[in-house]
Amino acid sequence: MSLLIRNGTLITAAETFRADILIEGEKIAAIGASLSAPDAEVLDAEGKLVLPGGVDVHTHFDLPMFGTVSSDDHYTGHKAAAFGGTTTVIDFVSQDMPALRQCVEAWHARVGGKAAVDYSFHMNITRIYPDTLAELPTLLEEGISSIKVFTAYNNRLRLPDDDILRVMRVAGKHGILTLMHAENGDVIELLVAEALAQGHTEPIWHARTRPAWSAVEAVLRGAALAGMAEAPLYVVHMNAAGEVDMLAYARDQGVPVMGETCPQYLFFSEEDLQRPDGAKWICSPPVRTPADQERLWQGLAQGTLQAIATDHCPFFYDGTQPIEYEGKRVAIPGKELGKDDFTRIPNGLPGVGDRLPILWTYGVGAGRLTPNQFVALTATQPARIFGLYPQKGALLPGADADIVLWDPSRQVTYGVQYAHHRTDYNLYEGWELQGFPETVLLRGQIIVQRGEWRGRPGMGRFLRRTTGEVI
Ligand code: URP
Ligand code: ZN
Ligand code: ZN
Repeated sequence: MSLLIRNGTLITAAETFRADILIEGEKIAAIGASLSAPDAEVLDAEGKLVLPGGVDVHTHFDLPMFGTVSSDDHYTGHKAAAFGGTTTVIDFVSQDMPALRQCVEAWHARVGGKAAVDYSFHMNITRIYPDTLAELPTLLEEGISSIKVFTAYNNRLRLPDDDILRVMRVAGKHGILTLMHAENGDVIELLVAEALAQGHTEPIWHARTRPAWSAVEAVLRGAALAGMAEAPLYVVHMNAAGEVDMLAYARDQGVPVMGETCPQYLFFSEEDLQRPDGAKWICSPPVRTPADQERLWQGLAQGTLQAIATDHCPFFYDGTQPIEYEGKRVAIPGKELGKDDFTRIPNGLPGVGDRLPILWTYGVGAGRLTPNQFVALTATQPARIFGLYPQKGALLPGADADIVLWDPSRQVTYGVQYAHHRTDYNLYEGWELQGFPETVLLRGQIIVQRGEWRGRPGMGRFLRRTTGEVI
């Protein structure tokens, strides 16, 4: 089947130009002016921008946590991603069993036949069993070229520094990228115990017990370990000004470190945690201050940070009250679990569908990013770093035809209705947007058109990744 997208303005990470795109089957076959394809179905993109489908390299679908589970699964989360113009997601495999291969198989089983956009996995390394280091390189055979380590969540996910160094050495040697959740687990443990002893229960104490200094210190530690291991490092969900400074310092020293931030750290602050419904903003690491937001924007503009992902990990605000989802009533325990104790509030928030529309208006529209930087940070660079380029994140002949027709004039009062996440709230409720995804294609098939869902479970395909680039 052929499809011709005509008269659009293409936006890539490098340039903006008018051209047609011819799609043959699942791939982009040609890009050029006035392409002729008499047998092709035509999609008129006059007045529209044409972007590569978004690549969100940090999601947690169907993740068990705090006695509940993140409320989007590998179908509902993929569908929300698609509505927001994202066609590739990368989720994290929990290390629930000693054998990594078994953990990966278990995550494939969790996805089952649900996937609605293309997806891949990172592997969490949260414990070193006798065979773990030897097993690491075999992840490449599973199509997994990245692992995540944690310097926080003591007694649960955290690895000691010597284990992180050992993991990074092996990973680096075999072309596997190490991701790091950078906070100081010991400091957090102490501050949480002190806060609880003093009777503090409110959501703001989540941030007060996870201070920016603990994150700044951990980013420098991670960079130092990467330097000693001579291995690349990608710091996830960066949130504090000092973290950007540490990353810039390490990059100046020639250490191959990269960083990601997420919209919540660009738009929200501790003030939001002090609202009566502040639990909605609880995530780890926490949202910080306007000064931190400013430095993160700078880091993106200056190239110190390479990606904007979401860390999508939604929970209901009130999981006792069902919502309507695809004609069924659904309620999943959520933030109310911690109404009397901030340490029991599930950590995480929705975002996979919000990322591109919010960043378009409040990043590009606000003059903080150019349209090309927007594409670079949300699609092309993540694809390059994680070994998906040029199959994903590119408008190029031979690339997968994952394409978004973006209507730059569409005005939307955003919120839970537009977002399609399977949860009962949206962080951007009532925000005015100018510019919105209109049509979304996954490998040449239309999955979203003018607010209508045309995708289905099972359309998404597992992406086997190879070693990515350090940029
Ligand atoms: O609060 C968050 N971020 N939950 C997801 C787990 C993580 O640390 O990324
Ligand atoms: Zn994390
Ligand atoms: Zn995460």
